[in-house]
Amino acid sequence: MKQDNILVIGANGQIGAVLTEALREAYGTDHVLATDIRAAETATPGPFEILDACNGAALNEIVRRWRITQIYHLAAILSARGEENPLWAWNLNMTSWLNVLKTSLDNGVAKVFYPSSIAVFGPDAVKQNTPQDAVLIPTTVYGISKVAGENWANYYHHKYGLDVRSLRYPGIIGYQSDPGGGTTDYAVHIYHYAVKGEPYECFLRADTALPMLYMPDAIRATLELMEAPAQNLSVRTSYNLAGMTFTPAEVAASIQKYLPDFQVRYQPDARQKIADSWPASIDDSRARHDWGWMPQYNLDAMTRDMLQHLGERYGRKVGG
Ligand code: SER
Repeated sequence: MKQDNILVIGANGQIGAVLTEALREAYGTDHVLATDIRAAETATPGPFEILDACNGAALNEIVRRWRITQIYHLAAILSARGEENPLWAWNLNMTSWLNVLKTSLDNGVAKVFYPSSIAVFGPDAVKQNTPQDAVLIPTTVYGISKVAGENWANYYHHKYGLDVRSLRYPGIIGYQSDPGGGTTDYAVHIYHYAVKGEPYECFLRADTALPMLYMPDAIRATLELMEAPAQNLSVRTSYNLAGMTFTPAEVAASIQKYLPDFQVRYQPDARQKIADSWPASIDDSRARHDWGWMPQYNLDAMTRDMLQHLGERYGRKVGG
């Protein structure tokens, strides 16, 4: 069997950092090249190169030199940061993705992973149990770029036979890495404040329900989708993916079961409008049917795990 050589783009990001480690466990450290636009002190040991995926020639050179057979393209400007400079965000998100698609085709890359998002949905989509084929009229530039990106994935698959696979990630929560520039980031920050014993000022209203997923489930979903037999995949834009749904008030209450003194104040900012335009919960039945998706963590199970790991990091025993 041919040994895979894997390229991770955006390997220092919130998902990229954890996914790189999981891929190295599965495929061998030396077969997974981590790349990012800048080096990170906290990066996992293993091959690393600086790469700006907007530079198509540089991307192509790396893919050839490393004889890359799979690409995970995780670099993007997320929802909140994208609204600060929409044309820059669009340009970065689309240029890098079109470079990945073209380079993959030119070099015979066998499989490509593209992360999409609940941000593809806008206020016109059904809010509860949003279906796979809901109307996609997003109100953020991040969402627009993900709708376009999904359609480019589908196009390359049907026109050229490129094996592109994609998930619409909900908000992702993990203790290993920090999120940046997203609307769901509060659900990570809140745990850090709680464990440090500090009050948290939440930038969303207490009752804002959003779809979320714990990092181990997100990584497992990604690996399971990428390992699924191609003929089982009926969605080549991007699969709806769900884990749990909660509001800031609910995650605060879940934390308070272990840290009863934890306090949250609510000070909604511009991100509230973005959150209000997104689904509250997601119907992921196609993922369950096609490749056996099944989340393992609910809110309380995630809270226990987050508090335990962050407790270790900050030297504070929580729960138990
Ligand atoms: N977590 C992302 C964001 O908030 C959604 O994909 O932008």
